[in-house]
Amino acid sequence: MTAAQLLAYVAISVSWVEAGSLDTFVAAVYEHVVILPNDTLLPVSREEALVLMNRNLDLLERAIASAAKQGAHIIVTPEDGLYGWNFNRETIYPYLEDIPDPQVNWIPCNHPNRFGHTPVQNRLSCLAKENSIYVVANIGDKKPCNASDPQCPLDGRYQYNTDVVFDSQGKLVARYHKQNLFLGEGQFNVPKEPEAVTFDTTFGRFGIFTCFDILFHDPAVTLVKDFHVDTVLFPTAWMNVLPHLSAIEFHSAWAMGMKVNFLASNIHHPAKKMTGSGIYAPDSPRAFHYDMKTKEGKLLLSQLDSHPNHPVVVNWTSYASGIEALSTGNKEFKSIVFFDEFTFLELKGDTGNYTVCQKDLCCHLSYKMSEKEADEVYALGAFDGLHTVEGSYHLQICTLLKCKTTNLHTCGHSVETASTRFDMFSLSGTFGTQYVFPEVLLSGIQLAPGEFQVSSDGRLFSLKPPSGPVLTVTLFGRVYEKDHPSSASSHLTAETLIVML
Ligand SMILES: *[C@@H]1O[C@H](CO)[C@@H](O)[C@H](O)[C@H]1NC(C)=O
Ligand SMILES: *[C@@H]1O[C@H](CO)[C@@H](O)[C@H](O)[C@H]1NC(C)=O
Ligand SMILES: *[C@@H]1O[C@H](CO)[C@@H](O)[C@H](O)[C@H]1NC(C)=O
Ligand SMILES: *[C@@H]1O[C@H](CO)[C@@H](O)[C@H](O)[C@H]1NC(C)=O
Repeated sequence: MTAAQLLAYVAISVSWVEAGSLDTFVAAVYEHVVILPNDTLLPVSREEALVLMNRNLDLLERAIASAAKQGAHIIVTPEDGLYGWNFNRETIYPYLEDIPDPQVNWIPCNHPNRFGHTPVQNRLSCLAKENSIYVVANIGDKKPCNASDPQCPLDGRYQYNTDVVFDSQGKLVARYHKQNLFLGEGQFNVPKEPEAVTFDTTFGRFGIFTCFDILFHDPAVTLVKDFHVDTVLFPTAWMNVLPHLSAIEFHSAWAMGMKVNFLASNIHHPAKKMTGSGIYAPDSPRAFHYDMKTKEGKLLLSQLDSHPNHPVVVNWTSYASGIEALSTGNKEFKSIVFFDEFTFLELKGDTGNYTVCQKDLCCHLSYKMSEKEADEVYALGAFDGLHTVEGSYHLQICTLLKCKTTNLHTCGHSVETASTRFDMFSLSGTFGTQYVFPEVLLSGIQLAPGEFQVSSDGRLFSLKPPSGPVLTVTLFGRVYEKDHPSSASSHLTAETLIVML
């Protein structure tokens, strides 16, 4: 090959790559009103299970077709979106299909009988193929096992809460077994090892995990840190918990903290506080939906960068560790936030600088309210400790929040509206972790896209006066390495405690 030929060859290769790869893409998420079985503890036949799943698939089909028509490249549908929740091992069984490893290179729509009876996978594959769109869904996987495997459950099979992805040709390209099951998911098994599932497209690298997984290191953080995914796919059945764990609030914060695109599709079921879906870019939410009032589903679409750039590396302790705590003369008090005891200071004036500490964490706030409403109390809180209720996870949290009433013991209780407006805020803390998720939630459970930023020295600050009254401004930090204190060290702590007492 001559130099000229080589150059021509290179030029052609490059232009081919450019033609095939996209700088941006259109993402869709669907908040789905799942049709639930009448009684999840009564076993049904496979036929009855299929009737219900097909009724849900009819609704998903409309959303998928509509998203595709509007130019979406990929659509995410929610966890438990075909059959709901509250099953036991036996009653979920008729809903499950054996889902093969994507390495088998299978387009179920073209070869429906290749892996036995798989009507749900066949239909999802055909929906993807016929609409030329990537389809993400959550279904159940079953894997027979026997005495050759000492961990095999007594009923002779593993059952997994499973996400599947079909590409725009209908090919199965991802299968992910949920690692961090939530309370009440006893119908499913935990995979033996956490699975880091990724796939590449012309619009970036994707990773996938499910619901409660977002609170833990594996596989969520690993996908970003070690596998460098651009976009996370997140089917969920998320029950909102205020003040720090409502869906749109926490999921958008994770996107910003981890600097990835995040596509969150929630179930719509207000009776269980399930609502809140969104399309979040690292710099700002692009679309979100929260609706406790209607019984309607909702399709969201937005354009995203295929490779969101990661400009600033944030040092989450840099600013706060240089602050000297000024004594404000205010008395600290304790109050419970979602079962955890925070240390608080009441914000007395309409402007001020406050510092509050708990264990290794000191939180610093500068703020200015437009006008302090007499019937509303705000407080600055700190928490550094292991949360041990629905899961065991170590938190470091700095939070500015509106108390439910003027009684300080209600600071941290769920409250959805406020009327106090802020001109500015700046919140920082002496975090012992690089995993800090910045949350801003306004009255009426609204996000504040484009109204705040994080600086490289670890301040979460307003860029302009927030567009609505503030419910909370929070730095939600996770200290993953302290999640599982070894039994030896907790024994030691208990011994030490006794000696000290
Ligand atoms: C629940 O029961 C009602 C009344 O028997 C029936 O009409 C409906 O189809 C059932 N729903 C499901 C999901 O089976
Ligand atoms: C046990 O399971 C393994 C793999 O799942 C299979 O290869 C083997 O044939 C099974 N043995 C019996 C006795 O069923
Ligand atoms: C973050 O900032 C603190 C305080 O300025 C400094 O001691 C620390 O070394 C910094 N950490 C990193 C990783 O740069
Ligand atoms: C708060 O601190 C900032 C600088 O950190 C300072 O400019 C401002 O005057 C302080 N405000 C009050 C009320 O002390």
